Amino acid sequence: MAGLVIILAVFWSLCILSIALLRWNEVRYRKKGLPPGTMGWPVFGETTEFLKQGPGFMKNQRSRFGSFFKSHILGCPTIVSMDPELNRYILVNEAKGLVPGYPQSMLDILGKCNIAAVHGSAHKHMRGALLALISPTMIKDQLLPKIDDFMRSHLSDWNNKIVDIQEKTKEMAFLSSLRQIASKEASSISQSFMPEFFKLVLGTLSLPINLPNTNYHRGFQARQHITSLLRKLVEERRASGENQEDMLGFLVGEENKYKLSDEEMIDLIITILYSGYETVSTTSMMAVKYLHDHPKVLEELRKEHMAIRDRKKPEDPIHYNDYKSMRFTRAVIYETSRLATIVNGVLRKTTRDMEINGYLIPKGWRIYVYTREVNYDPCLYPDPLTFNPWRWLDKGLENQHHFLIFGGGTRQCPGKELGLAEISTFLHYFVTKYKWEEVGGDKLMKFPRVEAPNGLRIRVSTH
Ligand code: HEM
Repeated sequence: MAGLVIILAVFWSLCILSIALLRWNEVRYRKKGLPPGTMGWPVFGETTEFLKQGPGFMKNQRSRFGSFFKSHILGCPTIVSMDPELNRYILVNEAKGLVPGYPQSMLDILGKCNIAAVHGSAHKHMRGALLALISPTMIKDQLLPKIDDFMRSHLSDWNNKIVDIQEKTKEMAFLSSLRQIASKEASSISQSFMPEFFKLVLGTLSLPINLPNTNYHRGFQARQHITSLLRKLVEERRASGENQEDMLGFLVGEENKYKLSDEEMIDLIITILYSGYETVSTTSMMAVKYLHDHPKVLEELRKEHMAIRDRKKPEDPIHYNDYKSMRFTRAVIYETSRLATIVNGVLRKTTRDMEINGYLIPKGWRIYVYTREVNYDPCLYPDPLTFNPWRWLDKGLENQHHFLIFGGGTRQCPGKELGLAEISTFLHYFVTKYKWEEVGGDKLMKFPRVEAPNGLRIRVSTH
């Protein structure tokens, strides 16, 4: 009996303590002028619900508090904005103090010169250097031939194999970028570079606690390996005086008007590898999934690519004009990005107290510009849950004011065309050479930015 009384007493004490803590945390953030919303537990906030429920959490909070609400997620007081017009306002007003607000672990591991960590003139300089490196001329003359050559060999031996498409598209995104960065050295360094890069990626998505055996610690160590490897590459290139036609060659070359320090060059290379990795690999994998599920779309896509192949000898590469002519392919990639929501949203933070949407947002708060819902708006995309690439041809492929898959404003994705060229070339060789069927693995896996089947496997054979 005494035991039961003690258990009940502990239980009730815990309940009262929990209610008191939750209440205290709400009162603590009940400043005048903040939008409605809940702040959850001290320190942890509502992170568990956010990670567990994903988009469901956002929908639920929106139904309670509207499209602009406060929360506490991933260690920061956060405003979530789900209103399309407000989202656009936030994205174009970096100069008013709405700068990127990515987690500390990401900034630490990607380096202090990486694009997301720099603002104002430093951002302009780094972005200018990147845009020069991946301009349409560079894609046409230098990058596309490398992408073409890489995709051919990456896809050459899939016949009669069961392929884990997630694994293969991840390798593809990394190795294709590496080839564009350092064409001569890529094959000799890729085997030691790739596992370090994967550790670096995991580290950026972890809590910034630098203890042995944590992902953050491993990611940080991986960054050190990668920077020393890249430093060596830069020095060797400079010393050789050779004029290699790749990104590294352009960066150290005399004719490049953006003179970067070695540290800036290394952080820019890491940024290129990192930014195109998850986005390009997941879009490619999801395109394979949707094409498998929609034979009519696959037939139309194959028609577009077979027509290009018919004009060429088997060994002829894809040229820039071929890539530009792939209208249906572009529509397939846009529709894949929309339906799979490759990017749920982007993060900003306030550098001073400011008024947004009639509310007062304190300095240092994070703003989650949540763009996912727009993708399923039936007014913009009739029958929004259907995979229908033709809708993009009807609407016109570009100038989609509300389509924020590549972000918007001053930080709009500079790698859009490069990413599209990579995915299009992958699809070209994949659909012209192979047919395939799924053999398993479609459990959903949640990343902070994307949602994808885990370990999707396909059985591949030639036509
Ligand atoms: C399907 C492929 C891709 C998608 C969906 C995508 C999406 C995005 C989005 C939404 C942003 C905005 C981030 C923000 O506002 O904070 C962004 C920025 C960026 N992307 Fe991409 N991206 C893709 C491919 C690439 C590739 C291949 C590169 C390689 C160069 C790249 C490099 C970058 C960089 C450097 C930024 C930051 C720009 C800045 O802060 O000024 N992206 N991307």
